[in-house]
Amino acid sequence: MVLRLDDGAALEDFVRRNAAVTSPALLPELRHYAATEITPLWEMAEAELEREGLPPPFWAFAWAGGQALARYALDHPEIVKGKRVLSFASGAGLEAIAAALSGASRVWANDVDPLALAASRLNAALNGASLETIGANLLEPGAEAPDAEVIFAGDICYEKPLAAQVEARLRGWSAEGRLVLLGDPGRTYLPRSGLERVAGYAVKTTKAIEDSDLRNAVVWRLPGPA
Ligand SMILES: C[S@@+](CC[C@H](N)C(=O)[O-])C[C@H]1O[C@@H](n2cnc3c(N)ncnc32)[C@H](O)[C@@H]1O
Repeated sequence: MVLRLDDGAALEDFVRRNAAVTSPALLPELRHYAATEITPLWEMAEAELEREGLPPPFWAFAWAGGQALARYALDHPEIVKGKRVLSFASGAGLEAIAAALSGASRVWANDVDPLALAASRLNAALNGASLETIGANLLEPGAEAPDAEVIFAGDICYEKPLAAQVEARLRGWSAEGRLVLLGDPGRTYLPRSGLERVAGYAVKTTKAIEDSDLRNAVVWRLPGPA
């Protein structure tokens, strides 16, 4: 079957067919469409995704960095309440959903993978949360980010060139006076300096996607204007 990237309903149907609803370890109150042992997503779907030029299904996991950010937003609703929030590299959309449930006035989930955005829409509906999806690559020169007061970036320091571009963009946003929070479980390309530790969580994960069953994930704040 050919997956049409401009057909939101078909993308959502793909997510429903290839993933099962579950709750992330650190976010038992949330639900999302995820790859589980009983879903053959990686094996069967990867070929289908590759044929369509799509990346591997990152959206089918709640990554440790994103779980930490979402946990922090749920436990500290005051950081997003009444504010406009952008979740950059939103994957399954859990950080965006946490912001919406914590009272954010408007929430954007941004990811370059159209399936991630389809999954985010389904996951938002599962949790009774309201969000908008944006597929633009906000790392491209001249790309305009939505007018968000708070920006979340969950688990995005996993590839060298990408992490360098993300860091520059996040620092630009924090220099504009926005609150920028990065959730990260000690990925190789996490910036070594210029971050303030806000919170830490031990996140149960799986060796299917990590090298350990437990990751220590930290919520970092990028310092604002001097
Ligand atoms: C490891 S996943 C993290 C997803 C989610 N934040 C979480 O923690 O569960 C990384 C995500 O970054 C997205 N991504 C990669 N490059 C991006 C870019 N330039 N703009 C937006 N999203 C991007 C990928 O599509 C993927 O969904």
